[in-house]
Formats: sequence, C-alpha cells, structure tokens
Amino acid sequence: MAMSFLRLEHIVKTYPGTDRPSVADFTLDVERGEFISLLGPSGCGKTTTLRMIAGLIEPTAGHICLDGKELTRTPVHQRGMGLVFQNYALFPHLDVAQNVAFGLEMRRVPKADVKRRVAEALELVQLGHLSGRRIKQLSGGQQQRVALARALVVEPSVLLLDEPLSNLDAKLRDTMRDEIRSIQQKLGITTVFVTHDQDEALATSDRIVVMSEGNIEQVGTPEQIYEHPSNQFVANFIGRVNLFDAEVRHTANGVAAVDVAGLGQMQAADDLGRPGQVTVLVRPHRLRINEAGRDDAHGTVESVVYVGDSIEYSVRVGTKAVAVQSVAGRHGRLERGTPVRLSWETSDALVLK
Ligand SMILES: Nc1ncnc2c1ncn2[C@@H]1O[C@H](COP(=O)(O)OP(=O)(O)OP(=O)(O)O)[C@@H](O)[C@H]1O
Ligand SMILES: [Mg+2]
Repeated sequence: MAMSFLRLEHIVKTYPGTDRPSVADFTLDVERGEFISLLGPSGCGKTTTLRMIAGLIEPTAGHICLDGKELTRTPVHQRGMGLVFQNYALFPHLDVAQNVAFGLEMRRVPKADVKRRVAEALELVQLGHLSGRRIKQLSGGQQQRVALARALVVEPSVLLLDEPLSNLDAKLRDTMRDEIRSIQQKLGITTVFVTHDQDEALATSDRIVVMSEGNIEQVGTPEQIYEHPSNQFVANFIGRVNLFDAEVRHTANGVAAVDVAGLGQMQAADDLGRPGQVTVLVRPHRLRINEAGRDDAHGTVESVVYVGDSIEYSVRVGTKAVAVQSVAGRHGRLERGTPVRLSWETSDALVLK
C-alpha cells in the first residue's frame, strides 16, 4: 500500500483541566500536494488539530507521520512546516522583506540566498514593490500576503493555514482565496487549511474534513460532501437544505419510494436500502416550482426574498416551511399567498442516515 505523505493516526487531545477531548480519535491520510480543509463550527477542534500537526501542541495520544517518519515528538522548528495564523503574527518593527527573511536567517541561510529567496517569495504574492514598507503601513490583504510569503519562503514540507482570510472583507477574501489556491497548485505544496466557512472550503479544497465536537463527521471531495453528505450534521453545515421526515417503503436500484411527512409519496436516491424512518434531503435550488407535467406537492408561497441572481421562497406545505431557491426571472416573481406546485428530480432527493 502506498504511504500517504502526512498521516494522523488516532490523534486525541484532552487539554489539562478539561474532562472531554477537544479532538477525539482523529485519523486522516493526506496525499503529497493535496489541499485539505478542516471545516466545522467554532470550538470543534480545528485549531487544536492544526497545532498538533505543527508541533505547537502535543497530542494526548496518537501518532503523526510525515513522509513515512514519526513526527509526534519532533519540535516545531524541525518539522519544516509553514504556518499562517489568523492574526498573521507579523513583526511590526520590521519591514516586509525583513519579516519574510526572518525564518531563513534563523536557519542561518547565507545572506545572498536570503535576498534572492525573499525576492522570489514576495514576487509570488505580488508584493515585490513593497519590500521596504513597514507592516503598519500595509492593508489587511497586504499583511496577509506577507504572512503567506513568510511561510512559503522556507520551502515548507506542509503549509498550515488557520483561518488566514477571516480578517479580510468579503471581496478581498474571495480574491485571496483564489490566490492561495493558485500558489498552492503552482508549488504543489501539501496544505492543511482551517476554516469555518463552507464556501471557502468548497472553492479551494481537494478534500474537506467536516468536524464537529472533536470528531470527524465526513471526509470527501467538495462534490461528495455537498451532494452526498453522510449525515444530517454535514448536510446542515454545507449549504442550505430542506430536511424531511420520511419513511422508506421499499428500495430498488438505488431509488426509494418514500412517504414524506406532509408531502406524500415521493421518490429519492437511496444508497442505504433499508426500510423505515429516515430523513430526506433536498437542496433549495433543486426544488422546482410549477414545473410542467409535475405535480408532487402543493403549497402556498409564504415569503419572498429577492437576492439578485436568485429568489428565495419559503413555501408552506402542510405544517412544513420548505425553502426554494429559484433563478430570478424563471417564472417572474411569485407573490406571497400564491398557490404553487413543488417537484424534484429523484436524483436530487437523498435519503440520509
Ligand atoms: N488551551 C486550552 N485549554 C483548554 N481548552 C481548550 C484550549 N484550547 C482550546 N480549548 C477547547 O478545545 C475546543 C476546541 O478548540 P479549537 O480552538 O481547536 O476550536 P476551533 O475549531 O479552532 O474553533 P474556532 O473556529 O472558534 O477557532 C474548544 O472547546 C476549546 O474551548
Ligand atoms: Mg480555531
């Protein structure tokens, strides 16, 4: 079997004075060059996991291996990892180039090489023209680039990023997100990226690790996580969802006949194939309003929110408020109180555990 590049094996972290682990039995194989996101709500253990990889926190149990070598007790500066923190942690009294040079000087890299490598790193993050600037004279986005250059200049084996974009405004966040991804691909550098922003994780990652309360809920590609969430937590956390209580009558060829509470008889994709009580997931943008020839459920428009590219409806079906997202202009704009028919494609409804 091929060894993975970075391996976390049954990692546990219980902080002193706490009674339950902040990270519980975390096992993950990261391939060389892979971009992995740790995604989950505040307090789920993302930073703790990242800091154990970096060597800033010692695991209570478990092993960390890099390129086949045990790393669990190796000190931070010998792990060869590059770190970018949420607050950047730059040296305010040094200029841009001095900040980036710091790690190389610590490693006693010859002066001429430092100069060349700093220039290259600053070029990579498009800051070559600001190398003599003080940190305080930089915008948030520029500071973020300095932090990234400082992490990359040592040619780390793994790049570790802890919410590096959270201090930036929305527009800049998107730009920097794309930039980090493109630099990562250009360098082919193995990256672990911590975020609580699902869009960020979906847009950047080769694979996403969804965490909650110290546990891994699911590991998968963005498509797998979004289209086939393995449970309700993941479904709820990644994008907007409708979850219906339902009962599977029978399943054949991956399609279940389900009784959906308040909606009636429907069909849904089903990998589980067990009869009984389940939850059926349908994304708001996969629901169709007044589709010709379809007559699956009847409801009434309860609220209408226009959000530019799309219109978000809440449709009352029996006792249930169903979220429907519709491309603006598809059928005009339905007013509150309008009776509508809702339908979905079988493959757009998913039976969940
Ligand atoms: N030094 C510490 N001592 C005790 N408990 C801690 C310590 N650091 C973190 N914790 C706890 O461990 C849990 C995980 O914290 P962690 O910082 O890893 O979460 P996170 O997923 O990074 O959250 P956020 O998105 O808010 O940054 C939390 O419940 C937190 O309170
Ligand atoms: Mg954190």
